[in-house]
Amino acid sequence: MPNESVLIIEDEKLVRWSLKERLKKENYEVHDAETGAAGLEILGQSLIDLILLDFRLPDMTGLDVLKKTMTAWPETPVILMTAYSSVDSAVEAIKLGAYDYINKPFNHDEMVVTIGRALESSRLRREVRHLRAEQQARYGLSNIIGRSPAMQEVFRLIEKIAMSQATTILLTGESGSGKDLVAKAIHYASNRMNQPFMTITCSALPETLLESELMGHEKGSFTDARFLKKGLFELADGGTVFLDEIGDMGVLLQAKLLRFLQEKTFKRVGGVKDITVDVRIIAATNRDLGKAVQDGRFREDLFYRLKVIPVSLPALRERREDIPALVKFFIDGFNREFKKSTRGITGEALEHLMAYAWPGNVRELRNVIERAMILENKPEIALEDLPREIRDWVQQEDSVVPDGFRLPESGFSLKQIEQEMVRQALDKTAGNQSRAARLLSVSRDTLRYKMKKYGLL
Ligand SMILES: Nc1ncnc2c1ncn2[C@@H]1O[C@H](COP(=O)(O)OP(=O)(O)OP(=O)(O)O)[C@@H](O)[C@H]1O
Ligand SMILES: [Mg+2]
Repeated sequence: MPNESVLIIEDEKLVRWSLKERLKKENYEVHDAETGAAGLEILGQSLIDLILLDFRLPDMTGLDVLKKTMTAWPETPVILMTAYSSVDSAVEAIKLGAYDYINKPFNHDEMVVTIGRALESSRLRREVRHLRAEQQARYGLSNIIGRSPAMQEVFRLIEKIAMSQATTILLTGESGSGKDLVAKAIHYASNRMNQPFMTITCSALPETLLESELMGHEKGSFTDARFLKKGLFELADGGTVFLDEIGDMGVLLQAKLLRFLQEKTFKRVGGVKDITVDVRIIAATNRDLGKAVQDGRFREDLFYRLKVIPVSLPALRERREDIPALVKFFIDGFNREFKKSTRGITGEALEHLMAYAWPGNVRELRNVIERAMILENKPEIALEDLPREIRDWVQQEDSVVPDGFRLPESGFSLKQIEQEMVRQALDKTAGNQSRAARLLSVSRDTLRYKMKKYGLL
């Protein structure tokens, strides 16, 4: 790694020279300038990692130079040096974005420590920015595959929600249907994207521990609480907290969560002070929360509060048309990851994937492709590379409904369909009620009841 470079902008020759000698010994690459203008010129020509800036320069003030560097090189930390300990200008400098200021005459050791710290923090900031950009690319909407109308609807919803003011969102969907993925996509598509995204799985911790993870605790609030600890709500201020498996949260904590959702305030465990933060809560569950409410395991008021903005992810078997694109997406991904060159999948194998019921949804599909690619090194994934349950799968139940029998976009009344089917069955059997009942898989009594209901008797 090349040495980091420091630019000294200072008009006093002796100060400049002695600092330069010292910093060279610390292995920095040192540039120096006598005036603000000369300093700015150097900044325009060389890569500078840190600026040491005198307050009083012959041609302009340090603050003027600072304003210019903050605009043109906002990432480069600036340390101001001042002989006049004027608190006002120091405060002003920090407000403008200076990293720190040091009073003259200063001790060189102290200066070296401050420079080291400033460079470290700017390295960390660069790293965070890099990681965030990577996350944004990885968790962007473009990485959620779905051409089916059901998924297109989900995308439209995500985009709308992400930029909205909504602070509570409920994600539902079977295991493996993409709830984690969607929660991250909402965060990274929102204006909260540069703030933290934090996840916690409610089923993973006992209730009291979960509470202190979420809300933090005061020092001494329980035996192990030797220090004050901030919880996720505080740490993620400005960002998003993803509460996975919300259905497993204990009832006492549910009450506290409800209060937080309604008032945006909470208390740390053992605390008396109300703390106010701005976080968006995305809660997820693969269970039927409505049923949990009926069973008394989930607070009804919390359920309704969470449900204001629901996003429900369709199971994979309800959107089989997405399977080819998902298969391609996973093959491409594993090709990169495993350095393989699988081109695709045989028609026969794909047919089986399209027919299978996918109880584990997209996660299961991903695992199937991963396994096939780890075990084999063929140009195409073939039927024999798939697990037995998929190879042997025979289409069941859902093929009973004849093809082309699709619910229109505008919806349809079940009653009307029933009435029409009863009529057709009687038509087909020339009014023979026993045979018509058999065609509809109902008893003759049921048929007669329905005939009466629809005025067909
Ligand atoms: N539409 C999709 N496009 C691409 N990958 C997907 C999609 N949906 C899910 N995946 C992938 O499938 C796997 C499971 O998804 P995810 O973890 O989001 O499911 P989940 O709904 O949170 O499941 P659980 O309820 O078990 O927590 C992940 O590897 C995810 O990247
Ligand atoms: Mg999940």
